[in-house]
Order: sequence, then C-alpha cells, then structure tokens
Amino acid sequence: MPLKITVRSAQPVKESGDVIVVAVNTLSGGSKKKKERSPLDGFDRALGGALVKRFRKDDFKGKKDQSVGISTLGKVKADRLIVCGLGDADALRGPDVRVFGAKAARAANTEKAKRLVVGIPASAEPFMRELVEGLELGAYRFTKYVTGDRRPKAELASVTICVADKPDATVKARVDAGQAMAAGVNLARDLSNEPPNVLYPEALGEAARAVAKEHGLKCVVLDFKKIQEKGMKLLQAVGQGSDRKPCLIHMSWTPPKPKKKLIFVGKGITFDSGGLSIKPAAGMGDMKHDMSGAANVVGLMAAIGALKPDVEVHGIVAAAENMPDGGAYRPGDVWGSLDGRSVEIINTDAEGRLVLADALAYARELGPDLLVDNATLTGACMVGLGTTCSGWYANNEETAEMFAAAAKATGENMWRLPLLEELKDQLKSDCADIKHTGDRYGGSITAALFLREFIGSVGAWVHCDIAGPSTSDRARGWDGKGATGHGVLTFYELVEGASRA
Ligand code: BES
Ligand code: MN
Ligand code: ZN
Repeated sequence: MPLKITVRSAQPVKESGDVIVVAVNTLSGGSKKKKERSPLDGFDRALGGALVKRFRKDDFKGKKDQSVGISTLGKVKADRLIVCGLGDADALRGPDVRVFGAKAARAANTEKAKRLVVGIPASAEPFMRELVEGLELGAYRFTKYVTGDRRPKAELASVTICVADKPDATVKARVDAGQAMAAGVNLARDLSNEPPNVLYPEALGEAARAVAKEHGLKCVVLDFKKIQEKGMKLLQAVGQGSDRKPCLIHMSWTPPKPKKKLIFVGKGITFDSGGLSIKPAAGMGDMKHDMSGAANVVGLMAAIGALKPDVEVHGIVAAAENMPDGGAYRPGDVWGSLDGRSVEIINTDAEGRLVLADALAYARELGPDLLVDNATLTGACMVGLGTTCSGWYANNEETAEMFAAAAKATGENMWRLPLLEELKDQLKSDCADIKHTGDRYGGSITAALFLREFIGSVGAWVHCDIAGPSTSDRARGWDGKGATGHGVLTFYELVEGASRA
C-alpha cells in the first residue's frame, strides 16, 4: 500500500504523530547573524533544554549520517524525536535526501509507528520527489507469507512532511512522481522476493500483463510454442528442462511523438538450480532472486506507465527456470540462436547469458537508440564488487558517459568494468561459432563479451551485471546501498535524459 503523504506549511514541533523525524543541515553553532527558520524550532524549549544537552553529549553537529533519538516524555505530540544530519546545505543532493527519507521510514517502522511527521530544512525542499521515494523505499517490507505473531504489529500508513511555505502544484507533482517511481522499485522487490514455486516464468508473464493492464501499456507474452517457432533456441534450451515452460515478455509504452526509443532487457531465471551443472546446496535458495533483472524491467515499466514520458520504452524479459531433468540441455550440446549463430554449451549454470542472447537479438530488431540489459549474471561480479554495487559495461565512451551520469544522479552504486578485447579468445569453440563461457578469471567480462556478440548493429548498449541475489536487505527497508530493485532509478533517469535531449 502506498503511504498517505501530505505536505504542509507547518512547524514539526506542533504536529502530532507517533514519531517525528527532523533533518537539519550542519549546525552553525549560533554564530549566524540573521536567524533562519529551522524545522527544529521550538523543540529544545518544549523538551526543557534536553535536546541541546543531548546534541552536546553525542557531539551531534548535523553532519551527514549523524543522528540522535530522544524520548519526548509527552512534551510534544509524538513519543519520539529523531534528528538526522544532512551535512552542508550547498553540498546537498537528491540522493542524500532520498537516503534521509528511507532512514525516517525505517525509524518509524522500528518504533512501530503508524503516523510519521517529517521536518526538512529549506535546502531539501527542491528534492521532494527524492524524499518521497526514500520514504516509500524505506518503509518497504516483504511480509506476505508471515502469519500470526510474525506479522508486523503496525504498519506505517501516513506521513506529514512539514515545509516552510505553502506547497504549490510542483510540490504535489513531485510527490506523485516520487510515489510512482518508488512503487515501481518496490514492485521489482516484491517480484524478486516471491518464492520460486509461486513465481515461475508464466507467473512472471502474468505479473507483467497485470502491470500493463493497470497502466495502459502494451504487453505480449510469447509462450514456449512461439519461442520455438521464432527460433529462440537458446531460451528454449535453458527452459526445456523444467515443467514450468519459458516465455518471452515484451512490454511497451509508445507516446504520440516519441523523442527516442529505449529498450530494457532483463534476465528472468525464476530459479537457477544450475541445471545439469548443478549448484552446491549452499546458497541455492538465493537463486530465486535470479530474475531480479526481469523484476527491474517490470518495475521500471510500471513507473513508465504511471509517469508517461515522451520517450518510447520497451521492456523485454527472457523468463525460464533452469532445472535438470531428462529434457534438460547438456554441457557439450550445440544450439542455434535467434541470431543464427551456433553456441557450444560448456556449463549449464551459465544460463543467463544464453536467454539474454536471444532476448538481445529480439530487441535489436526494434532499432533502439539505447539498449540496456540487466542481469544477475555472474558470481564473479559479486566477488569483485560486493553485494551493494552492480558492475556495468558500455560498447562505447559516449554511451558510458551517459550511463555514468545517470547512475551518479541517482546515487545508485554502479561501477564500470572494462570489455577487455584480449579475453575474447576464451570464447572460441572447436565445434560451433562460439562457446558461452570462458576461463575462471574475468568471468563477468567474458559474459559481457558473449552478450555483445548478440547486439547486432545497435550503437549504444549497456550491460549491467547486478547483485540481486545476495543483497542483505532483500525483505526489509532500503538504505541506499544495493538491495533488490537496484538499478531501476538509474534506468528511469536514462529515460528522463532521453526526454530532455
Ligand atoms: N545466477 C548466477 C550468477 C550468480 C550467482 C549471481 C550467485 C549472484 C550470486 C549465474 O547463472 C551463474 O550461475 N553464473 C556462473 C557462471 C559460470 C558457470 C561461468 C557463475 O557465476 O558461477
Ligand atoms: Mn546459473
Ligand atoms: Zn543464473
């Protein structure tokens, strides 16, 4: 459920709620000449001087990432006051405000609050959209399958954001945009968190259909028969070892006069057992998240459908379950592809790049101005970058600059990795056009090089090797560091960039 968010010209100290969370810029220490309005005004007096005392004790100066909590003992109309530092006003950026919003919502959840009051300084007011995104992302919990005592005692329902001046129409628009964007990211997280017995390829297709229906998008789902007819042999190979058959999902948004055409492709392995090259038991359960790339695409399309940019956007998902059985594809197999080239199968656990190869070959026919794929593709990338950062590759510098700028604007941790040409030799096959895995070293890079073989003449391509399966904060909150849904904000930023261009 989205939060009920109200923006009001009000002083936080006078508001009532279960928790009040106030953000401040670095405190000036009383040396200021003209006294500016602060969302903290009135609190110290109401609390009988306890707040300033507490600041001194904790050495709280309003620096970034500093925070203090204090019980109000009934002296204001909320049980608890939390003050968070934002650092210097001039250095404040959207991502800082988003992380603050998330902190406030997570604090509210910790306090079992239903009603939250948020106070922000003037410097944060332009970032209302980011604040709302943070609130919604931080409030997120995945509690669908817990019952009885395990259910959360309270759920954050409403947030009052206190600002200096009476909010105008732009503020309302920013709140709406923030909620739409966060709903997309949280949908991605929900899909990723669903267990694999519930979310199999066709169920993912149904989820995409429901999103399309809600927002007036087009959605075509190619079933197993269509996949075979079209010659998507790699998607067939990966998916045929499961009772749950694969599908290809194609969602699209076409505005009247689109400025550009962007395509986002996602790996939708609803469960990755490794296939015949079966994975060890430890951590296999995490492989329910192996459709996080697909979840990001569906979540992004939900946001696109709600926000209706003047850019044509396609979301394409290759969905399959990678299982071992009598019909499963094998190491040593040689398969064709939608591209036409033959691929020698080395390890059936490198299934992601195979389904993506067909999805990319399908996407390139649509003639995108920018093609972005995202996938929980390699353990190697996570070994290199950890669980809070995704790796990415671009096929030229101009595209790389554009992607780097988008990632920077959202604050998502995305680290560029190199397409090292010298590793290409690893993909040479004795019996087919190409093999799909290389040696042990450079595993994320050789996967990216393999994918690049299937983009045809697309001029601008980015591949993201995302860390979905092992992010620590899968079912709870959001703190700006990774977590499922990582990348969606950056992808939307690319769409906005295309609209501005
Ligand atoms: N889905 C995995 C990659 C993965 C594993 C991501 C663990 C995050 C956490 C992928 O399908 C896979 O199994 N990749 C193999 C490739 C190898 C066989 C060349 C890997 O990374 O080990
Ligand atoms: Mn695998
Ligand atoms: Zn996988």
